Amino acid sequence: MQRKNQVKGDGFERGLMKWESQAPSNLALIKYMGKTDASINLPSNPSFSYTLKHLTTTVSLEQIDSEKDEWHSAESVTLSASSVARFMSHLERLKVYFGYTGAFLVKSVNNFPQGVGLASSASSFAALTKCAAMALSELTGKPAISIDEQAALSRKGSGSSCRSFYESWAYWEGVQVERVDTPYPELLHQVILINQQEKAVSSSEAHRRVQTSPDFSTRSLRAQSRLTQLNEAIQEQDWPRMYRICFDEFWDMHQLFETCTQPFSYLSPTIKQVLSQLQAFWKQKGDGPLVTMDAGEAIHLLYRPDQKAMMQDIRQGLLGAYHVF
Ligand code: PMV
Repeated sequence: MQRKNQVKGDGFERGLMKWESQAPSNLALIKYMGKTDASINLPSNPSFSYTLKHLTTTVSLEQIDSEKDEWHSAESVTLSASSVARFMSHLERLKVYFGYTGAFLVKSVNNFPQGVGLASSASSFAALTKCAAMALSELTGKPAISIDEQAALSRKGSGSSCRSFYESWAYWEGVQVERVDTPYPELLHQVILINQQEKAVSSSEAHRRVQTSPDFSTRSLRAQSRLTQLNEAIQEQDWPRMYRICFDEFWDMHQLFETCTQPFSYLSPTIKQVLSQLQAFWKQKGDGPLVTMDAGEAIHLLYRPDQKAMMQDIRQGLLGAYHVF
């Protein structure tokens, strides 16, 4: 949803305006990990994601009479100073792109709980880019920019955010991002939150550190090969093969974390235990959810629509003891 309001009271008299945009998060099944150019977030390998339409960030931009942009910290949003600085510097990049020098009050709110280990950088940078593109084209009289251009700009703020502009599946390689049609337009999503602390290693830092792993030089080849295999499995609707490829893929990324020169790990004993339970479930039933993990102590599950009852059973049984969202 996007809308523009003229602000009432003082703002209205001075003709100040407000814009609002929303964008979804996304979940990579082939992971973006490592950059060839960190200044503009060019990835070392292609990635492939499912867009999580139900997890969104709403960003609003309000014109203010001020020298510089201001961040409005909502009570429910706890962002570190460096995260706020990164967000605001992305707004500055967009203003430079449009040649605009005025200031904004920036607000951002997620429709999912804060501080529970769910990354919001993809949805928040995508929402900020959408909102600023709308506001700045209107304020400068410059033509509106296409979704592809918005995604390219958003990528420079947060790499994975470029995939959030496309539904339901997105493929990103180099400067190219595109929507992908699959026989699975709608999946059900569940996330098991094990450790809800803020991550000790930011994703930018993870992208840097993995390059020192002895397995990194061949990482791109492995990701590309899995991408080809996953596409085949999706087209053939071979769900068990999709599960195996996705499992190997996130495990590969986590092995890079554990084998770099400053190693770090999200594969805690509890995470390993839940993963083993999920593997045992698959072995017993010959069916189950796709399983993946990003850079955090959370396990994401994707189910086909016909697995709705299984999703509820897993939540109440196997995952009964955990915080599931
Ligand atoms: O876009 P970033 O810099 O937050 O990196 C995201 C990295 C992963 O979430 C671990 C993988 C991915 O492709 O989303």
